[in-house]
Amino acid sequence: MGNCGTREESAIVATAHNQAQVQQQLQVLPVPTRNLSGLGRKHSRSTSDLSDPSTPRNLEDFRKNSLLYTHVIAFTLFELETITKSFRSDYILGEGGFGTVYKGYIDENVRVGLKSLPVAVKVLNKEGLQGHREWLTEVNFLGQLRHPNLVKLIGYCCEDDHRLLVYEFMFRGSLENHLFRKTTAPLSWSTRMMIALGAAKGLAFLHNAERPVIYRDFKTSNILLDSDYMAKLSDFGLARPGPQGDETHVSTRVMGTYGYAAPEYVMTGHLTARSDVYSFGVVLLELLTGRKSVDKTRPSKEVSLVDWARPKLNDKRKLIQIIDPRLENQYSVRASQKACSLAYYCLSQNPKARPLMSDVVETLEPLQCTSGSEVSPSSSSTPTFICSGSPFVSGRIPGYRMQT
Ligand SMILES: Nc1ncnc2c1ncn2[C@@H]1O[C@H](COP(=O)(O)OP(=O)(O)OP(=O)(O)O)[C@@H](O)[C@H]1O
Ligand SMILES: [Mg+2]
Repeated sequence: MGNCGTREESAIVATAHNQAQVQQQLQVLPVPTRNLSGLGRKHSRSTSDLSDPSTPRNLEDFRKNSLLYTHVIAFTLFELETITKSFRSDYILGEGGFGTVYKGYIDENVRVGLKSLPVAVKVLNKEGLQGHREWLTEVNFLGQLRHPNLVKLIGYCCEDDHRLLVYEFMFRGSLENHLFRKTTAPLSWSTRMMIALGAAKGLAFLHNAERPVIYRDFKTSNILLDSDYMAKLSDFGLARPGPQGDETHVSTRVMGTYGYAAPEYVMTGHLTARSDVYSFGVVLLELLTGRKSVDKTRPSKEVSLVDWARPKLNDKRKLIQIIDPRLENQYSVRASQKACSLAYYCLSQNPKARPLMSDVVETLEPLQCTSGSEVSPSSSSTPTFICSGSPFVSGRIPGYRMQT
């Protein structure tokens, strides 16, 4: 089974045969019915929006769309068992709300024509409709979207009640691990700015797509890093098509992650691209401060990073209180002010006061360091130069004055 395409991802071209097989598998799929509700399950993921009209509601949508997934392979369960050594525990890369992620390697031995490639295999917990919907949503979106700052979906598996996703392997794992694990070397300022830019480009691509997409689960654990610390967004299980025509928002049940979801979205369920911008602001703040968005072990006034840091973001004298002390000497005052004011804007209570992601990209671009020598986190203790920042990109970001 399997046939090679000719593109760079030649190994990941689904054949008509594969697709027909998947369609057949999908038709007979038993969907467990268990309605999960409320925020705060493992990893703070909330319930799927079961009333959501544009989430792939049934397998019919998927079957129609699957013809568009020209670069995605339909794997058999046996093939994925083979490459993960029957999902051996020492192949585990991590665990999230969806299930466990394993490392694997595909090549000609797995299927004739497959290009040799390390992959990450995510195995859905068999715990209900939510997981199944997220799996479908992910295949639907990632199967069609391609961008350097989105993780590539190599393939999927749908056999009986098994649901798996196969992604390109991201050598350095998640930003969350790099930013918050005490055992890893602190990321340097320039690496943090580079990651912020890459992630912003990924979101901007989604928001500016012909049919705009709202990502809805932007957080450090969903930003994966390749060997060069290039950021790619993963986990499209909660993504939604943006408002269309005259619509100002899409109405959904509240989904996402505590500490990252925009306040108006949590209050009303009204979702816009600006909700993603808020979540981006939270991640930028985490990058700048080295602190988690929510941490109950901190003093009560500091538990919520946004509540604690936001008032200081527009006060030059107070920036020093919030910027990660491990970044000492690596950035210019001006660059830190630009980055902090960008975070401040993204975190505006009023969604309309937040910049567009394309403005965020423009603002971050001048904050990138030009020397390659400073990109490695290991160089953080011996900075070779200090990054500067050109004036705040005006774009559509309203005039903003920092308190002096
Ligand atoms: N493509 C990949 N390459 C390398 N490691 C990966 C890949 N995808 C996931 N991982 C690892 O697996 C971990 C778990 O990922 P997963 O997306 O399942 O959960 P999460 O992001 O931590 O939580 P959530 O379910 O809320 O998204 C990640 O933190 C990362 O370390
Ligand atoms: Mg994730």
